[in-house]
Amino acid sequence: MSYNIADIRKDYQMQSLLETDVAQDPFDQFANWWDDAMKSELDEINAMTLATASATGMPAARIVLLKSFSADGFVFFTNYNSQKGIELQENPFASLVFFWKELERQVRITGRVEKVSAAESDAYFHSRPEGSRIGAWASPQSSVIASREVIETNITMIEQQFTEGEISRPPHWGGYVVIPEVIEFWQGRPSRLHDRIQYSKMAAGSWKVERLAP
Ligand SMILES: Cc1cc2nc3c(=O)[nH]c(=O)nc-3n(C[C@H](O)[C@H](O)[C@H](O)COP(=O)(O)O)c2cc1C
Repeated sequence: MSYNIADIRKDYQMQSLLETDVAQDPFDQFANWWDDAMKSELDEINAMTLATASATGMPAARIVLLKSFSADGFVFFTNYNSQKGIELQENPFASLVFFWKELERQVRITGRVEKVSAAESDAYFHSRPEGSRIGAWASPQSSVIASREVIETNITMIEQQFTEGEISRPPHWGGYVVIPEVIEFWQGRPSRLHDRIQYSKMAAGSWKVERLAP
């Protein structure tokens, strides 16, 4: 079977991104683009690729969901014992990528990663539906399991354990915050001559704004 993948080609036409358009602060710029994405009613705008690397430098990437952002960084939740959790323990740096294709936009964020406070993880955990809270206990995320039954058996056990009272947050489950060092905003333009504006954090805490070649 052969596919004409090389012929798949889209020219980006919608908008430009000029130095004069962008906010001085990258979090304000992210908020502006976030508002645009919300107004466009894109599906799962909070889905982002999270790239990590092991201590030996072997990369791994997967999608996770952004759950909040502020000048403190970009927060997602996961299992601390998962592959990403182990990698972040060994090498606490990560890269995030959003692709909002309907707006022909990409945002890349790179920085140091820290666990959020237990209070923040608790608050988010308790906002989740009951099935997800049980799932966090029942699934040893990223471990090899013999069959789906392993999870189903775990769920039954956990349900019995928590028949009375609140489902507490497992100690191995919580949030991480990516604290950006670099944030790049990419707007697709015709003929692959895209606009790229990059913010780099300076020692004094201010941001340097530069244009990158497409
Ligand atoms: C749309 C989408 C959203 C996801 N959101 C999360 C998330 O917020 N947290 C999470 O741990 N996994 C999430 N996943 C699953 C991850 O992609 C991944 O399978 C899982 O976290 C295990 O990754 P790891 O083995 O690299 O640690 C999501 C997957 C998809 C496709």
